Amino acid sequence: MRLSVVILAAGQGKRMRSALPKVLHRLGGKPLLEHAYRAARDLRPEQVYVVYGHGGEQVRDALGYLGAQWIEQDPQLGTGHAVAQALPFIESGMDAGDTVLVLYGDVPLMTPETLERVVMASGGGCLSLLTVELPDPSGYGRIVRNAAGHVQRIVEDRDASQVERAIGEVNTGMMAVSASHLKRWVARLENQNAQGEYYLTDVIAMAVADGIAVEPVSPASVFEVMGVNDRVQLAELERRYQRCQAEQLMRQGVTLLDPARFDLRGELQTGQDVVIDVNVVLEGRVRLGDRVTIGPNNWIRDADIGDDASILPNCVIEGAEIGRGARVGPFSRLRPETRLAEEVHIGNFVEVKKSGVMSGTKINHLSYIGDTEVGRDTNIGAGTITCNYDGANKHKTVIGDRVFIGSDTQLIAPVKIGDGATIGAGTTLTRDAPPGQLTVGRARQTTIAGWERPKKKR
Ligand code: UD1
Ligand code: CA
Repeated sequence: MRLSVVILAAGQGKRMRSALPKVLHRLGGKPLLEHAYRAARDLRPEQVYVVYGHGGEQVRDALGYLGAQWIEQDPQLGTGHAVAQALPFIESGMDAGDTVLVLYGDVPLMTPETLERVVMASGGGCLSLLTVELPDPSGYGRIVRNAAGHVQRIVEDRDASQVERAIGEVNTGMMAVSASHLKRWVARLENQNAQGEYYLTDVIAMAVADGIAVEPVSPASVFEVMGVNDRVQLAELERRYQRCQAEQLMRQGVTLLDPARFDLRGELQTGQDVVIDVNVVLEGRVRLGDRVTIGPNNWIRDADIGDDASILPNCVIEGAEIGRGARVGPFSRLRPETRLAEEVHIGNFVEVKKSGVMSGTKINHLSYIGDTEVGRDTNIGAGTITCNYDGANKHKTVIGDRVFIGSDTQLIAPVKIGDGATIGAGTTLTRDAPPGQLTVGRARQTTIAGWERPKKKR
């Protein structure tokens, strides 16, 4: 069966009260529309069409990487009119025509399994419809069935009678049917209704009139069909999404001390026996090796953390590679292009940027290391600053193996420190320091004999 998916995303999303088009608001770090698109893509369709309208260029620009076919709907005259914009592009030969699956760009949590069932139920020339029973169905289109229980039509909330409004089964908007039927019906839609719109939902009654069976399908969970209309609903679905991800991780063997205080906004790969404490936010692509522990209050984006490494509380880590058995934090900041080898220790109030640090080296307190290569088993004292920036250009610092740098040292780049060198505390290093020797640059200490403090006059 050839499948085409049409994702409707032209609505304005007024209730978001945002300058950003609704489908670009993020859930789990990804735009809402990307969720719908990925679920569609998992069905391996011929093509995914996205019908866009308000803020369209912005949506297209932001999501150009998706590989969808973009179809503009201008003006927006309703869901039936939206689908009609995509239909001319879809194959509809009587024998070899596509099945069309209609989805909404603002419904992010539908699963490929449920969509697969909707598509399957449309097989054999039927129209399938995803419906759900809601305790409060207000606002939704209601599913009207006959005495035998067969679906007859959908009536929109604003067009419904008192009796119809009492129906709890609602239209989720997702449906599948052959393109040839759909083309025929959509061409006949009218807009004589409360909203003056071309309702896609009116095709249900047309199918029934044509003797086409309408097959209702239920989702596995109501969250799958929930749309985002405002930021309250967005937050609800975000929590649901995070809960699902957290459960999946726990089932894979990750310990989450509190799954309600864990947020993954991207892709996470984990080894065995990883332990993650509370208030950890992971973004982008993160890999955690075996037995990695992440302490409370950490923000980590695009990082690769090796086996047995531990991240102590309150760190900000972005674009970093952290080696096996390394220890980072508390209160450390690793910026992009930081590479820490095995057993490196980075301590409190240390910032590392675009630097490589070889195995066993310790930078434990109050330092800034930028554009630097540090060798192995080196000890960098508290308050060491690489002065890498002269106001116009960045310069490199190279520090060898087994170096000892005393506290409160400034390294004025470009500068090199040879293997085994010692730098005296308080040095401002302006020239290269040779290997194996003590280099110190500080004012000589003197004591003035007989000096007295000034005294206040009486
Ligand atoms: C629609 C359904 C209703 C269903 C509900 C589920 C119709 C007529 N009604 O109502 O039965 O219970 O969804 O949420 O279909 N859109 C366009 N172009 C348009 C209009 C809408 O692309 O001209 C898109 C919107 O961006 C949105 C989707 O279609 O993603 C649904 O539109 P919306 O206005 O939210 O429809 P509802 O009135 O909620
Ligand atoms: Ca809606």
